[in-house]
Amino acid sequence: MANVVVIGSQWGDEGKGKIVDWLSERADVVVRFQGGHNAGHTLVVEGVSYKLSLMPSGVVRQGKLSVIGNGVVFDPHAFVAEKKRLGEQGVAITPQTLRIADNAALILSLHRELDAIREGASTGTKIGTTGRGIGPAYEDKVGRRAIRVMDLADADGLPERIERLLAHHNPLRRGLGQPEIDAGAILDELTSVAGEVTPYVDRVWKLLDERRRAGDRILFEGAQGTMLDIDHGTYPFVTSSNTVAGQAAAGSGLGPQSIGFVLGITKAYTTRVGGGPFPTEQENEIGTFLGERGHEFGTVTGRKRRCGWFDAVLVRQAVAVNGVHGLALTKLDVLDGLDEIKICVGYRLNGEVIDSLPANGKAQLEVEPVYETLEGWKATTAGARRWSELPAQAVKYVRHIEELVGAPVTLLSTSPERDDTILVRDPFQD
Ligand code: IMP
Repeated sequence: MANVVVIGSQWGDEGKGKIVDWLSERADVVVRFQGGHNAGHTLVVEGVSYKLSLMPSGVVRQGKLSVIGNGVVFDPHAFVAEKKRLGEQGVAITPQTLRIADNAALILSLHRELDAIREGASTGTKIGTTGRGIGPAYEDKVGRRAIRVMDLADADGLPERIERLLAHHNPLRRGLGQPEIDAGAILDELTSVAGEVTPYVDRVWKLLDERRRAGDRILFEGAQGTMLDIDHGTYPFVTSSNTVAGQAAAGSGLGPQSIGFVLGITKAYTTRVGGGPFPTEQENEIGTFLGERGHEFGTVTGRKRRCGWFDAVLVRQAVAVNGVHGLALTKLDVLDGLDEIKICVGYRLNGEVIDSLPANGKAQLEVEPVYETLEGWKATTAGARRWSELPAQAVKYVRHIEELVGAPVTLLSTSPERDDTILVRDPFQD
C-alpha cells in the first residue's frame, strides 16, 4: 500500500480540491508540506462547501489526523480566523484532529506588509503575489532569523527573537521609506494568539514516523504547482517554496521512501494567475471561452486567471521533476464544443525547435509554441463515469496527452461533482 503525494503539474489551480477530497476520504493522515494560506481550495462534502487555505483537507472529515508540516509558513492569525470560520460551519478543529509542526516558521504582519510594499512599488519586478506575506516569511526562514511556531510557548525567549528579526526589518523598512516597527507591537501580536496555537503544536516528524510504522495511509497535500516552484518554476515569477513532490519528505520530516505514489493534477488546458511567462496563453476569444466555461477566477484573491492551450512540454517537464506516476486530468468538459483543440508539443526559439522550457526568464518569454491541432468533439464529456461515455475524439485527446507527457491518466475528472470521475487505478492501492 502506497502513501500518495498530490502535486500540481502546471501553475496551480489544476483542480486539486476535488481530487484531494476524494483521496482524503481514503487516507488516515493528511499532511501539508509547503506554502501557507496562499493556497485555496473549495471542498464540497455532502453538499456543504468548505473553503480551505491553510488547513489540510482532512479537517473536514471525521476520524482523520491533519498535519501542518515544518515546510509550511504558518500565519497564526490566519489559522485562528480559518478555525473560527470552519467552526461556524460545524467543523471542530481540535488538538486531536490537527497537529502543527513546532519547527514551522511564522508569518507575521510585517511579512504581509513587506509583500504589499514590494508589490505596490513602481520599480522592481511585480510578481503578482497573493499578498499573504509568503515570500518575506520564507526569506526570514532561510535567513535564520524567523520566529517559529515553538517560540510562541517561550514567552521569555520571544523579546530577544523579535529584536533579532527587527534588526533586519527596520533598516530594510527605512530604506523603503516606511516607519520602523516597535518590538512591543510584534510581542503583542504574538502573545495575543499564542494560547490558540500552542495546544496544537507537536514534533510532527515523530508523530508521522509512528503513524507510518503503524501502517496508516498518508496523503501529502501539495499546494500551487510545479511551474511556481522556487527552483523548477518560471523564476522569479514563482512562489517561495519547493512545490515539487520531493518537498513532501523535507517539509514533513518523513523520509523519501515514504512518499509512494506521485499523482500530478493536470488541467486539460492551462491557466496561470499573476505575472510571468505563459507560452500558450490565448489573449483572444479562446482564452475568454476557457476562462468563462472553466470559471477561472482565483479562490484566494478572486483574480481572473490567464488561460491558454494545453502545454505538453511543461507537463512533461513536471512529470520528470516530480517523478509523477500518474495524472489526474481535470476539467476536460471545459473543452466540449470546440471545433478544434491545440496542444503545444515543442517550442521554437532562435529558429530551433526545443523540447523543454529554458531556465532563462528572457528565453521563456521568447519561446513560440509549436502546436498540433486535434479535432474537437461536439458531444458532452461532463459527468462521464466510464470511458465508453466519452466521445471518441475526447478519448483521443486524453491518450495523446498521455503519450506526449510520458505518464498515464490514473483518474479523469469530468465535473466538480465527486462521483463524476473515471478511476483507472486507485493510487493508494498501488
Ligand atoms: P505568493 O505565493 O503569494 O508569493 O505568490 C507568488 C506567485 O504564486 C503568484 O504568481 C501567485 O499568483 C502564485 N500563487 C500562489 N499561490 C497560488 C495558488 O494556490 N494557486 C495559483 N497560483 C498561486
